[in-house]
Formats: sequence, structure tokens, C-alpha cells
Amino acid sequence: MASYIIEGGRKLEGEVDISGAKNSALPIIAGTILNGGISKLYNVPNIHDTKMMFRILEELGCKVKKDKNKYIIDSSRLNSCDIPEDLMREMRSSVIIAGALIGKNRKACFSCPGGCDIGSRPIDLHLKAFKELGINISEDSGRIECSADNINGSKIRLDFPSVGATENIILSSVLAEGETTIINAAMEPEIVDLQNFLNRMGAKIAGAGSNVIVINGVKKLKDVSYNIIPDRIEAGTFLCMTAMNGGEVKLNNVISEHIEPVIQKLEDAGCKLNIIHNGIELKAPKRLRAVDIKTMPYPGFPTDMQSIFGTIMTVAKGTSIVIENIFENRFKYLDELSRMGAKYTIEGRTAIIKGVRKLNSANVRAKDLRGGISLVIAGMYANGKTKVDNIEYILRGYDNLDNKIRSLGGRIHLYNE
Ligand code: UD1
Repeated sequence: MASYIIEGGRKLEGEVDISGAKNSALPIIAGTILNGGISKLYNVPNIHDTKMMFRILEELGCKVKKDKNKYIIDSSRLNSCDIPEDLMREMRSSVIIAGALIGKNRKACFSCPGGCDIGSRPIDLHLKAFKELGINISEDSGRIECSADNINGSKIRLDFPSVGATENIILSSVLAEGETTIINAAMEPEIVDLQNFLNRMGAKIAGAGSNVIVINGVKKLKDVSYNIIPDRIEAGTFLCMTAMNGGEVKLNNVISEHIEPVIQKLEDAGCKLNIIHNGIELKAPKRLRAVDIKTMPYPGFPTDMQSIFGTIMTVAKGTSIVIENIFENRFKYLDELSRMGAKYTIEGRTAIIKGVRKLNSANVRAKDLRGGISLVIAGMYANGKTKVDNIEYILRGYDNLDNKIRSLGGRIHLYNE
């Protein structure tokens, strides 16, 4: 088991390069199955989740090679449509491999996906969409088998703009017969990135970034080379880390439009932000002011930033109201923060956080990825030494985290028991 040991009380100064987006890289890696050829991917974050995704591809017969700053994936020898159960359980996002396998070979077999425990994460919308594309689905002892002779374009209306379901529909219909329309599609930048990647491969997709996406099936796709967008949640994490701990940082490789709601809330809390070419700068105030947030699908405030922003509000002046509309169990980090002196109450999907001046160091435990990084940020603020256990969750999504924090002057060490 690995932990971080953090010595709190240091302001952050300096520059950090933001890595490629985890939530873009995962569906794009899955999408490399579709061309039955070579894909070269740049800006892939070096994190546990991308490594798992590559392992799944290798299990399915693809060749994956890292060459300096790019990954080269050869999917010409794909020979299985059966996603191994142990790898599937490791990571919920593995469900999007199903869409790519269906798209390519009209067949996929997988089990219910794993991932962070942040409330019930069903895949009913994915399966309903597959059915609407004419795919037969059967289930036997937790294994789900999807197969079709032909995939025919169709009009699919999502009950909720699910990111994963939108990606799965795109991946499964790129090589379908005719036109597929997704109504009430997710509008996240990562969906646009997936569209751009697949179009570079020869797909005909339009509308990503809006709530209607149209996919015109093509017969064949070609080799591709693609640069993944920067990770907006990692950028938001470093901004909030500095906002809470004080200091002044510059982040490179940031598309600031992607984090507008976070920028807005940080300004409301008293931070000075400056958008520069390909980056952003933040200067923290002496003390943050309390502001309210409400998570919503993009372009609203991202649920992946809720715990991080909630954490910085624990030491702000005043009381903030944090409403979580996307996942129902995303306040577990507050239990851990209460051990450090944070004051809050929770009523259903709402947390009311009363800012305190001081947090104390403690031994705390990460329970999911974003809740885990929140504890790291709080540990950097607290007096004394904080130990964050179970950091495997954090390593799923943050590339080179401890080095990046140290380069800003923070004191953090990874400790393997
Ligand atoms: C993706 C992101 C995750 C982010 C989330 C919401 C990746 C790899 N992960 O997750 O970081 O927190 O979007 O922005 O991109 N739902 C259903 N049925 C379904 C699918 C989803 O009820 O079939 C519900 C979920 O339980 C949840 C909500 O819809 O309450 C949003 O889920 P979704 O947008 O699908 O999130 P993911 O794609 O899993």
C-alpha cells in the first residue's frame, strides 16, 4: 500500500506543465481498435488508468509500444472481443472498449465495470443505446454479451447526457450502416476530442460539443496520429491547490475555456487569474471568501472538481453551499477532512461548509480519485505532517503528482509500505 506524507504550511510558487486529459485518453485509446491499423498518440498521461487501458488492448491482441513522447498502437491483429473480468473490474472506463469492439467486430463480451466507489454507476443508458442500434444483449452470471449481424444507424435520445454512454454510441456507430443521431448528448470537451480523433481517422462525425451529435457510418478507417487535449481537471486541481495554500503559479498547456466555471468561482473567492497564451496564472488572496457551487453536466461546474473546491472552502471566510447533482455519494472526503478540523453538515446532495482558519494534520485515507487529491491539498495547508493512505486511487488519474507539487515548493513524499 502506498501513502503520501505531506508537510503543510508552504506557499506555492513556480510553473507546472499540465498533462494530457485522462478522460480523453481513455476513450481515444479504446477508439484505436476501430482502424485495424496504426494509431500514434501524443500527450497520453502516464497514469494507472491509461496503463490499464493499454493492458486491455494487449489482452485483445493489439500491440502497444511507447516511443519517446508517443504511444504507437497496432490494432491489426485484434483477435478477441472478450474483455477479461479482472481488468474490467479495475476500471469503470473499460466499458467504452465494448463500444469500440462492437463497432469493429459487431461483438463484445464484458462484465459490470469497476472503478471508484462514488455512488451507483449503472450502465443502463449504454445498454439501452446498444439495443437501439440493433445490438442483441444477453447476460449470464454478470457477464454481458453484445452481438449483432449489422449495426444500423438510429436516433438515440439519452435520458441523461452521460459522458460514457455518448462515447460508447459514437464508438459503436462510426462503422455502422447509415446515420446515427444522439439527442441530449454529453457536451464535454473530451467528447469533442474523441470526435476530432475519429474524424482524423476518416470517420464522419459532427456536432460534438453541442447536445446533438450526428455520426455518418463509413466503411473503412485509416492510420492516424493525434495529440490529446490537456487535462482540465488537473489544471483545476493545481489552481485550487494554490488558491488554498497561498502563492502564485503559472500553468502551461491549459485550454482555459474548458475550466471557465472553475475560473469564475476562484475569482469570486478572491483569486486573481490571468489567462495567457496556452496557459493560466493564479495569485492567491490572503484568505479565500466562501462561494457556493452546484455541479452540472458541461458547461456547468464539473463534478470532478466538487471535492477539490469543497476542500478549499473548508478554510474560506464564511459558509459555502456545495450541491452535488451528478453522483450521489461524492461527499466522503468530508468525513476525512473532519478529522483535520473541517466543519460541515450534509443534507442529501447538499453540503454546508463553514470555513475555519486552521486545519490540523492527521492520518487520512483516500476513498476515490478526486476525494483523494482533496486530502493531499488539505494536508498541504494543515499544520504539521499529514499522511494520506490508499493513494492508489490518486495515482489512477494524476501524472507525476508528487514531483509537480515539489517543483512548486510543496513538501510531499511517496511512501511505499
Ligand atoms: C465520466 C468521467 C468522470 C466524470 C463523469 C461526469 C471518464 C472516464 N469519466 O464518467 O470523471 O465524473 O463523466 O462528468 O470520462 N448514469 C446512469 N446510467 C448510465 C450511465 C450513467 O444512470 O448508463 C449516471 C451515473 O450514475 C451518474 C451520471 O449518469 O450519476 C453521470 O455519469 P456519466 O456521465 O456516464 O459518467 P462517466 O462517463 O461514468
